[in-house]
Amino acid sequence: MNYKKTIELMDRVQFIYELALAKLELESLSAKFEITNSMRKFELVSGDEELLRKRVAYFKSIDGQITDYEKLFQFNQTTSINQYLTHWMYPYKGKFHPQMIRALLNFIKVNEGDLVLDPFMGSGTAILESQILGLNSVGIDVSPVCVLVSKVKTESVAVLDKIKEIKDEILKQNETNLTNFENPENKGIRASVEGIKDEKVRNFFLVAELISHSDESRRGRDFHKSFSNNVEKMLKSVEDFDKAIKEVGLKPGKVRIEKGDSRDIKLKDNSIDGIITSPPYSIALDYVKNDAHALEALGFDTKIIREEFIGVRGTNSNRIVLYNQDIMKSIDEMFRVLKPGKFCVIIIGDASYLGERIKTVDFTLQYAKKLGFKLIKNIDKIIYGLYNVMQKENILIFQK
Ligand SMILES: C[S@@+](CC[C@H](N)C(=O)[O-])C[C@H]1O[C@@H](n2cnc3c(N)ncnc32)[C@H](O)[C@@H]1O
Repeated sequence: MNYKKTIELMDRVQFIYELALAKLELESLSAKFEITNSMRKFELVSGDEELLRKRVAYFKSIDGQITDYEKLFQFNQTTSINQYLTHWMYPYKGKFHPQMIRALLNFIKVNEGDLVLDPFMGSGTAILESQILGLNSVGIDVSPVCVLVSKVKTESVAVLDKIKEIKDEILKQNETNLTNFENPENKGIRASVEGIKDEKVRNFFLVAELISHSDESRRGRDFHKSFSNNVEKMLKSVEDFDKAIKEVGLKPGKVRIEKGDSRDIKLKDNSIDGIITSPPYSIALDYVKNDAHALEALGFDTKIIREEFIGVRGTNSNRIVLYNQDIMKSIDEMFRVLKPGKFCVIIIGDASYLGERIKTVDFTLQYAKKLGFKLIKNIDKIIYGLYNVMQKENILIFQK
């Protein structure tokens, strides 16, 4: 009897773009399959089951055996299914959906030892997903907050024991601050955190502080209580990361995170095996304003810093002109550093400004093609958010 093995989609897969990516990732991992009537179960005709179990993003089991990614979802300290391991740390607007990134990493055929780049790293989703999948990666962002947060998400597991050693002491100092806040000698939790010698451990507590500033300013929570809660929750997530390495058998890739400018990437020509990124969508979101509380808490002057950020420079129609120039320079740089034959994924959406629709997707597409990128796929990513508001983005996949 010719027995075919079943590959089962995860229960949470619900959008058309996810189904499209699920099929694409299987094809890229050299699997031959048939889709059965239910659409949720595929039949594997041929393929390396072990490889598939290790790499796939959208499937929960292969021939009855649970995939690594389904296992990883169990290591989650939040109520949001995709904010597992350290993904949740810091409330960053416009984060990638991690599962989509894993599927795209499969689609662009990057393997162990390869180097992935995200030149608009944001909160580090693509870098963390690369690390989890065992790929080496470089993340660049102009925002010091993004650099700090991405480092903490990916580096804390290496200093887990040191974080545990110092945690009680820091929380005790926080308690003292809580009861003594009118004492002029009390310089607050920052003084305690700045006294930590190990940079990675210091960064961990600094991010706990930044999340607490956000809890205070956006949700009206008590700063000190938030700080203690955040430290505990972050620590549990880092412990989860450590457990996942041991229990799921992850071999984390190497990570390099730098503050830098996508218009002038400090990498050699033809040195990168794959790019997955999402630039600011024209001027849709003011990243400086959005993170002002955290930037200021780190001692930055937001008026000066804005000059380096794409999408917030200039006023009125000049803002669009500057955005277009900046995005062209960034695409030039991505093309330059990517190895010939390799893939560059740009996720972008249109925006509206001064009552007009800014066609960012078309602009990016046309410029990339003019530069010599070949468009391999253009996937509509349509989702409905809260109150049925449609969000449309495009996943543009180019090959150099
Ligand atoms: C759409 S967000 C990226 C979000 C990211 N994909 C994530 O999962 O969190 C765009 C990012 O571009 C960054 N950015 C703006 N101008 C930049 C520049 N000149 N060089 C590098 N990054 C820049 C912003 O700080 C912001 O984090």
